[in-house]
Amino acid sequence: MKKMRLDKILANSGFGSRKEVKSLIKSGAVLVSNEIVKDPGFLVDIDEEDLLVNGKRLQYKEFHYLMMNKPPGFISATWDRDSKTVIDLLDEPYNKFGLFPVGRLDKDTEGLLLLTNDGQLAHKLLSPKKQVPKTYYAEVSGKVVEHDIVTFQQGIPLESDFTTLPAELDILAAGDISKVLVTIYEGKFHQVKRMFEAVGKSVLFLKRISMGNLKLDDNIPLGEYKELTEKEMESLRQYLS
Ligand code: URA
Repeated sequence: MKKMRLDKILANSGFGSRKEVKSLIKSGAVLVSNEIVKDPGFLVDIDEEDLLVNGKRLQYKEFHYLMMNKPPGFISATWDRDSKTVIDLLDEPYNKFGLFPVGRLDKDTEGLLLLTNDGQLAHKLLSPKKQVPKTYYAEVSGKVVEHDIVTFQQGIPLESDFTTLPAELDILAAGDISKVLVTIYEGKFHQVKRMFEAVGKSVLFLKRISMGNLKLDDNIPLGEYKELTEKEMESLRQYLS
């Protein structure tokens, strides 16, 4: 049995701010188990009681999990003074759920970005202790060679007190512009770019394709998103205990 205030349930479900949902409730638009309830503080058992708002059944979800294919040009934050953020890409009602990105991709990086309002899940996935693998497809100027694979495997000192964990580098094509897959186990600022700089190359294009066992769904166009399926949620759970 999980009881929650009626105004909180409605605000979390995208019906507006606390103030707006209070007036919605007071207008008599909300029925709890077939009775009009006008008290915003009324406690509802969300597992047992039936909620109707303006005649429509409300299926309450406390947490939301979205997979976005982040386009370049957007900041991985909830607000920025100068730039558009990934939250600006959300339509209603998702832009009302208080979602935030789990970790950061650089402004020019594309690909898999998880958005949620589940702070605990985000905290666990980002915890350095969990060493969640993140795989990127990168195009790099300069020829990536076998020795770079060894260097990545050994871990690269990026700061006086930080050396990366062993990372996997998979060369897809080596040339003036090389194509690679790289898997890292932390999420330091500009980490992949700095690792390539350490071996004398620069990243021209970067796209995250997986996080843990969660893979970017190829059917999501750049700038679009979808809710995670139960199977996709399952692929994250091993990191959540
Ligand atoms: N490493 C980078 O350099 N940039 C990203 O956006 C992600 C990982």
